[in-house]
Amino acid sequence: MAQNYWYNESVFYELYIRAYCDRDGDGHGDFRGAIEKLDHIKSLGVDCIWVMPHYPSPLLDDGYDVADYVNIHPDYGTLDDFKAFLAAAHARGLKVITDMVMNHTSDRHPWFQAARQDKNSPYRDYYVWSDTGTEYADARIIFLDTELSNWTYDEVAGQYFWHRFYSSQPDLNYDNPKVHEEMFDAMRFWLDMGIDGFRVDAIPYLYEREGTNCENLPETHQFLQKMRRMIDSEYPGALLIAEANQWPRDLLPYFGTPEAPEFQVCFHFPIMPRLYQAVKAGEKTPIVDILNDTPQKPAGTQWMTFLRNHDELTLEMVTPEVRQWMWEQYAPEPRMRLNMGIRRRLLPLLDSDKRKWFLLHALFLSLPGAPIIYYGDEIGMGDNIWLPDRHGCRTPMQWDDSKNAGFSDADKTYFPVHAEYAQVNVAAQEADPQSYLNLTRALVRARQSQPALRRGEMAWVEVGQESGGNTAVLAYRRFLPDESEGVLCLFNLSDRPQTFALHRERVDLLSGEKMAGEVGLRPFAAHWLV
Ligand code: GLC
Repeated sequence: MAQNYWYNESVFYELYIRAYCDRDGDGHGDFRGAIEKLDHIKSLGVDCIWVMPHYPSPLLDDGYDVADYVNIHPDYGTLDDFKAFLAAAHARGLKVITDMVMNHTSDRHPWFQAARQDKNSPYRDYYVWSDTGTEYADARIIFLDTELSNWTYDEVAGQYFWHRFYSSQPDLNYDNPKVHEEMFDAMRFWLDMGIDGFRVDAIPYLYEREGTNCENLPETHQFLQKMRRMIDSEYPGALLIAEANQWPRDLLPYFGTPEAPEFQVCFHFPIMPRLYQAVKAGEKTPIVDILNDTPQKPAGTQWMTFLRNHDELTLEMVTPEVRQWMWEQYAPEPRMRLNMGIRRRLLPLLDSDKRKWFLLHALFLSLPGAPIIYYGDEIGMGDNIWLPDRHGCRTPMQWDDSKNAGFSDADKTYFPVHAEYAQVNVAAQEADPQSYLNLTRALVRARQSQPALRRGEMAWVEVGQESGGNTAVLAYRRFLPDESEGVLCLFNLSDRPQTFALHRERVDLLSGEKMAGEVGLRPFAAHWLV
């Protein structure tokens, strides 16, 4: 049997330190505050925390613009605070991974400052320069709403520099092996401290080559294999997760091969928008098609599945027609749209309908993969579309109904707490077994109690004539190789009642009910049957 790695069966939690809990009263969350909330995270039943960028940064891209790879943003605390956080998480059996932003730095990074000021500085070649800003014209612009070009002229340098994201985020030059060593040293710094791995940011764009779209290049894969060799030889077992927003066929190479591995885990970007598409259309085809199109991954690797994260709900991995439809359905106000996506949180996207929230969770927590929950979605937090960029989905965590939702004592927080906090908060949901919080806990617990859901195979179950061959009903089995039955996952994606014929009596793990024969499926019903 293939070796079973911890990440294969883990549930993850995405933690935004700035938003979580402010202990020192400056209006920004910090590691000391987060330590106090680790019991909340643990109570969800998750196994590993992904900490969004925690580095010194001007925060023009919320920390994805790193100004120092080996320190902590002063608003978030000190290195000692981080170490205390790590120890407190480990003491609770929680693993911790951090964000490794490899493609670019902030323009405030000392490397870029040195590079722009002196053509002969050894740092000049850490970045990608041009006299004309005309090269690599086939590379798309990612931040479409703000950037006009991937080149920006720098007065100080007297040249253009290359950037795939904001013009305050110059791309590093991976043709320079010194850059590899700098990144490896940064990784060593955190791994030596005891973290369990990295979510590696924006990896398709590391290299540029004329005549290509500058994504997923062979040189990029060679570098990633080199990175993995370093990890395997110096930190065996450390986890690397790939953020590559790509189609399944381009995603698969990021796992590498058994001889030349790259990442153990890759986010499955294309499945995500199709879950929303399916629920809105009351129609399973988008989910079935994308999973059928997803190639077999190498043994020992895993997909990471998610419903929302700190970015806009990206629609890059759907057709232009579906994108237009998704915008019409899910982002009726222009303000809700950003770049190629939708800047809204999970519950408002679902019209605050608890049935849909439950259905989507039961779906993504039963699909193959390691699921990740975005902070705040466990209580159905709302968004604030009037905040700039993606900040509307990054407002302070709502703990209780006291000042600033219990997030901070400060008079002003980094961004305002959501107006609904007096009703929507952790404390208010603790006692109610049907609250989002307790449903999240119950769903995660139910998933983790079933080895078939944690690591089983998946097979579609025919929804036959008895259900009218209905495409509103999605059914699949998750099972271990030695099991004939496993867990039957059954979903009604539509707002109309449906039926499904069960050949034997089963128990629903999610409600405890017994079900048999021709069963009725309520609108948006979700069942995990054993
Ligand atoms: C990733 C991050 C996003 C960031 C971008 C540039 O896509 O998820 O938040 O803006 O990389 O670093």
